[in-house]
Amino acid sequence: MYTQLEQRGMAEPPVTVTTLRKMKQQGQPIACLTAYDASYAALVDAAKTDLVLVGDSLGMVIQGHDTTVPVTVADIVYHSRAVARGLRHAFLVADMPFMSYTTSGQALENSVRIMQKGGAKMIKLEAGDDQVDIVRHLARHDIPVCAHVGLKPQSVHKIGGFKVQGREPDQANEMVDSAKRLQDAGADIVLLECVPNEVGQKTTEALDVPVIGIGAGPDVDGQILVLYDVLDITQGRTPRFVKNFQQGHDSPLAALQAYVRAVKDRSYPAPEHCFS
Ligand code: KIV
Repeated sequence: MYTQLEQRGMAEPPVTVTTLRKMKQQGQPIACLTAYDASYAALVDAAKTDLVLVGDSLGMVIQGHDTTVPVTVADIVYHSRAVARGLRHAFLVADMPFMSYTTSGQALENSVRIMQKGGAKMIKLEAGDDQVDIVRHLARHDIPVCAHVGLKPQSVHKIGGFKVQGREPDQANEMVDSAKRLQDAGADIVLLECVPNEVGQKTTEALDVPVIGIGAGPDVDGQILVLYDVLDITQGRTPRFVKNFQQGHDSPLAALQAYVRAVKDRSYPAPEHCFS
């Protein structure tokens, strides 16, 4: 049996894809957050977050763009490498940016770069039926994959804005079926964004792999939010599912611990954070 160098002497082993799957099976909520640099990553890790995502939301919250579209693979590698240095416990996932996975070959090449140079342990891509073969190709090469379904922010210009998805019964059923096909192709996690509670619940029941929600209601296996929304750094209008955990807490660490507690005891999301 191998012992990874960084794990020697650690009280608690790092979270792995197996830990996350066991958490689903045992009904233990999975607490996830985004991070973009080493200092915040260390805080998020100290708060006992299970999974950290270097999201292409960095295009908006770090770079100041209106969408995630301008983010590049080099941006993700740079931020992922920094975040990896701040983590000891949490599982690191990094986004595949817009147009970085248009073919299986391109997806494999870029995911290898993000894992080798960025230190990510899993890549996330925005997916539907058109990406099933790409997910299968990555899985065949042992690349761990998170499939992002529901609202896909990289498609914002095609769908005409950041809107709740799956409100029509046909669209909802198609979304659940598509998530199942992505799982069957080898996705290890499904991330579900901005859908009515019922779609969150049905997807979670239909899948064996963990379903992490953002604006997907309380009946998913875990929750994720953008770090700067949780810490109330984001200015202006935030989506309905966002909760400011900084309020009532005197440090960023205390706010992040409150978020993790609220996910674990299922007090977040409350009805006011959900879509029907
Ligand atoms: O890019 C990102 O931060 C994300 C989250 C919103 C889940 O995909």
